[in-house]
Amino acid sequence: MNTKTIFVKPGGGYDNVVVGSSEVRAPANGEITVRLHANSLNYHDFAVVSGMWGPTEQRIPMADGAGEVIAVGSDVTEFKVGDSVVSTFFPEWIDGTPLVEGFVTVPGDGIDGYAREQVTAKATAFTLAPVGYSHAEASTLTTAGLTAWRALMADDSLKPGDTVLIQGTGGVSIFALQFAKMAGATVIATSSSDAKLERLKALGADHVINYRKDTQWGATARALTGGRGVDHVIEVGGPSTLEQSMIAVRVAGHISVIGILSGVSGSMDFVPALVKQVRLQGVLVGSRTQQQDMIRAINANGMRPIIDRHFPLTDMVEAFKYQETNQHFGKIVLDI
Ligand SMILES: NC(=O)c1ccc[n+]([C@@H]2O[C@H](COP(=O)([O-])OP(=O)(O)OC[C@H]3O[C@@H](n4cnc5c(N)ncnc54)[C@H](OP(=O)(O)O)[C@@H]3O)[C@@H](O)[C@H]2O)c1
Repeated sequence: MNTKTIFVKPGGGYDNVVVGSSEVRAPANGEITVRLHANSLNYHDFAVVSGMWGPTEQRIPMADGAGEVIAVGSDVTEFKVGDSVVSTFFPEWIDGTPLVEGFVTVPGDGIDGYAREQVTAKATAFTLAPVGYSHAEASTLTTAGLTAWRALMADDSLKPGDTVLIQGTGGVSIFALQFAKMAGATVIATSSSDAKLERLKALGADHVINYRKDTQWGATARALTGGRGVDHVIEVGGPSTLEQSMIAVRVAGHISVIGILSGVSGSMDFVPALVKQVRLQGVLVGSRTQQQDMIRAINANGMRPIIDRHFPLTDMVEAFKYQETNQHFGKIVLDI
């Protein structure tokens, strides 16, 4: 059977995004077939589709897919027809320490992703979605949700009373705010927009800083902790934000090196890292077990993701152009 599919031709670029069809086969042992209903957008998917890091061969984009199981292989016991499921960023990384460098095993980048109506894949390429979530809500978890969860709860062990600093109002940062509040932490949130700062406060941020108006926001964040420094920084800005993050963090605090929103390279002053004995931890999303841990926590706490806007699958290019404007707050979703 053939199913509607979006392809990105080699090299990527918006003019290289085409609608076509791909074949869906019956699931073999260890596989499931999923009727996909939603994708969510990430900066990484933008890099593939826009051509910033375009694919070397024709590729079905999008790492985040959610939908309903419509068939299971004969030996699959974890899922049944009708289950709501969400994709995993690393279908081969089940548990333990990371296994591979980079994106060669990642759907939508090194292998085909989920911008299509149906897919047959290994059962480990999916987990159950949170109870009561729409498919659109579930699709926000694969990349942005799990990155924030792993940073705070697996690489670190956040506890009530800790202080977390988040940067901007994209998908990863908003999830980090929500998980930090779930854990009883204090959140200091930054944005370039005063209107978005109000929305951050409404979501539970304890302190907000406009990083455009206050270029020394790291010192401001530190002062807000009474001079102690924040326990954990969700570092998504990259080269132009790391210096302020190093000022904000406490002695022996944790900086999750996650994003490259301000570029891919820059200089770093090593002395603050040494004298403050900072833990700089590179992050590339997380394992399937970490995703299941995150979903258990969501089920227990009733947290819902913040979806800014929906686009139909075939308007993928429009959706990425909207993401580029940075107007969004939280996640952008494609409905399939
Ligand atoms: N390593 C990983 O595992 C991993 C996983 C997911 C994402 N990422 C990376 O993390 C970054 C964020 O991803 P995302 O999906 O959350 O992106 P996103 O949703 O597109 O976030 C965009 C928002 O980030 C804020 N921003 C932009 N430039 C900034 C800067 N220089 N300093 C501070 N904030 C800035 C803006 O917020 P305001 O409008 O409020 O200012 C903007 O709206 C990206 O670089 C992405 O590649 C990494």
